[in-house]
Amino acid sequence: MKGLILSGGSGRRLRPLTHTSAKQLVPIANVPILHYVVADLVGVGITDIGIVVGDTGNEVRASVGDGSRWGASVTYIDQEAPLGLAHAVKVAEGFLGDEPFAMYLGDNMFEDSLDEVVEGFDGSVAARLLLAHVDDPSSFGVAEMASDGSIAALFEKPAEPPSDLALVGVYLFGPRIHEAVRAIEPSARGELEITDAIQWLLDSGETVEHRVLDGWWIDTGKKDPLLACNRLVLDRLGGDGVVVDDGAEIVDSTLVGPVVVAAGARILHSTVGPYVSVGGDCSIERSTVEHSVLMQGASVTGLDHLTASVLGREAEVSGVPGESVRVSLLLGDHSVVDVGGSGGCTDG
Ligand code: DAU
Repeated sequence: MKGLILSGGSGRRLRPLTHTSAKQLVPIANVPILHYVVADLVGVGITDIGIVVGDTGNEVRASVGDGSRWGASVTYIDQEAPLGLAHAVKVAEGFLGDEPFAMYLGDNMFEDSLDEVVEGFDGSVAARLLLAHVDDPSSFGVAEMASDGSIAALFEKPAEPPSDLALVGVYLFGPRIHEAVRAIEPSARGELEITDAIQWLLDSGETVEHRVLDGWWIDTGKKDPLLACNRLVLDRLGGDGVVVDDGAEIVDSTLVGPVVVAAGARILHSTVGPYVSVGGDCSIERSTVEHSVLMQGASVTGLDHLTASVLGREAEVSGVPGESVRVSLLLGDHSVVDVGGSGGCTDG
């Protein structure tokens, strides 16, 4: 079985973070989301992997490389514009050929291995979907179930969802999906929807199996789910949950686990944690930071306190030491925010 990871798209819901970088490369516990995705596929024996890329293709290529670090072989497939998940399958047809494949959305993360999901799938049935009960089904593709427990129909982000069973970002397909993606038309939002392609399979009398997920699953494409994912992954750290890489400097500070601190980071006269990922070369001085992700080179100075925030690369936040304000931010790369000053704010 081959793997197809979708790492194009525009990342609208994570702007301004995604103005300058790929949403699939945002770090969770200091590891890019996409690296977990590649490792998950390799973990179930899928090593021949295609990655669909768009505008941020160069950054994705630089981060994942040829896949040899995971024992995988990665082929990059250019998608000229984010024209939909089914369009991504279309542009990957040459790579996929007639083989069964697992399609994995590059911004999704799972608690459990995909062992049970892929077990026994050989492409002789047209598709196997993964479903999960969610609180807000209208944000997802949703399955309507028949009385015999099979999938009757699928709807993409329906205003009135027929169930709370969302389509999760891993799909297994046999070769008939290629006929389906050729047969469908763009949706009202102008995308070739994978939900419509699967509906076409159902309408053509093909078997579409499903599994319902037990463990957690997160579509990290928005700030709060991204931070929730960071918390869940940090919760897996053993011991006191504090991991400080060699080459990080901690002076007169308290780290409250779980926390990860990457090499080159400096934490001075501060309290950091719980649930903070501090990226390489970040600096935190005279500040309190909790429940946040700080990407490479971000800095927080004189701020009490920063919570539920995602700071892009080299973003700078400052406050007034001694003054207590509780701030929650989503900042793009190179942004500069002075919380305590005259209110000046530049979004790079
Ligand atoms: O997360 C699960 C949901 O993913 C499903 O419930 C929906 O049925 C499915 O349509 C999808 O919805 P999203 O709105 O979350 O999809 P998004 O636009 O975020 O794209 C998912 C991934 O695929 C993301 O990593 C970007 C990538 N992508 C997206 C498009 C539209 C591409 O590589 N090419 C594309 O053309």
